[in-house]
Amino acid sequence: MHTESDTTGSAARPLSADVVQELLTTARTYAERAYVPYSSFPVGSAVLTDDGSIVGGVNIENASYGLTVCGERVAMFAAAAAGHRVIRAVAVSAPRAAGATPCGACRQVMNEFKPADGDLVVVLDGADGPLQIPLRDLLPNAFGPRDLEQ
Ligand code: THU
Repeated sequence: MHTESDTTGSAARPLSADVVQELLTTARTYAERAYVPYSSFPVGSAVLTDDGSIVGGVNIENASYGLTVCGERVAMFAAAAAGHRVIRAVAVSAPRAAGATPCGACRQVMNEFKPADGDLVVVLDGADGPLQIPLRDLLPNAFGPRDLEQ
């Protein structure tokens, strides 16, 4: 099957230290509002859209466990519901696991909303400070919207 090439598109534009800090502060604040009665594993997330807006999200669990939605997807879907269609960065903060990375399902949703001409930056809340990782390193050879145009 054809997949979008890793090598197309430019690299992600680096985020300034101020923006990274604002994203992580938002993600940590949101983590305090996580609804996690089953795992007790809160996750907060903050999305940076192409117009500079920041939109937060938390993981939301359910008594029917499989219906749980991760903090990153809640943040991205809230941004989409607010009308945004391009996401430059997604920060994630899991207070119980420094440096936690997004799950595979969330990486696939990030791929949907990444800039058409560049990459999306994933910002991790590492023990020794923030880490910026390009999505293409976390989800190589991704299947995406352009594959449906073949
Ligand atoms: N979780 C997230 O919110 N984001 C991730 O990337 C991984 C896992 C949540 C789902 C569940 O509520 C809890 O963490 C434990 O898996």
